[in-house]
Amino acid sequence: MSDDLLAAARTVRENAHAPYSNFKVGAAVRTKSGAIYSGCNVENVAYPEGTCAEAGAIAAMAAAGEYEITEVAVIADSPEPVPCCGGCRQKLAEFAARDVTVTLATISGVTLVTTVGDLLPGAFDASHMDKA
Ligand code: THU
Repeated sequence: MSDDLLAAARTVRENAHAPYSNFKVGAAVRTKSGAIYSGCNVENVAYPEGTCAEAGAIAAMAAAGEYEITEVAVIADSPEPVPCCGGCRQKLAEFAARDVTVTLATISGVTLVTTVGDLLPGAFDASHMDKA
């Protein structure tokens, strides 16, 4: 993975609004055009209304008119790389092929490289809605 994607995730993480969990997360996606879109978690006093960093990055990407992710990076200040939550796995699978690389990283420099397909095996997709 190129350093620029992880650097973008690390930078945007500082803008996270996480007063309830005190757990800031940054995410960045690269698209087919080569552009990078980033997002941070934005919590809310009504807890379920909070949004994950990955969702923010995806929203920024779609707002720019892009829909094809080629690479993902997520970073948090944790002892081990933080796995994307289940909802974010589904959100990433909407815009990324199974073999798209996801780099999970810690601020201290631990990284875990995986793929969208490995994060969400057996994903529900549009083919499941085909009529028999
Ligand atoms: N969080 C993310 O932003 N992404 C993940 O993949 C895991 C969890 C956020 C949501 C919440 O604001 C905080 O981390 C604690 O769960």
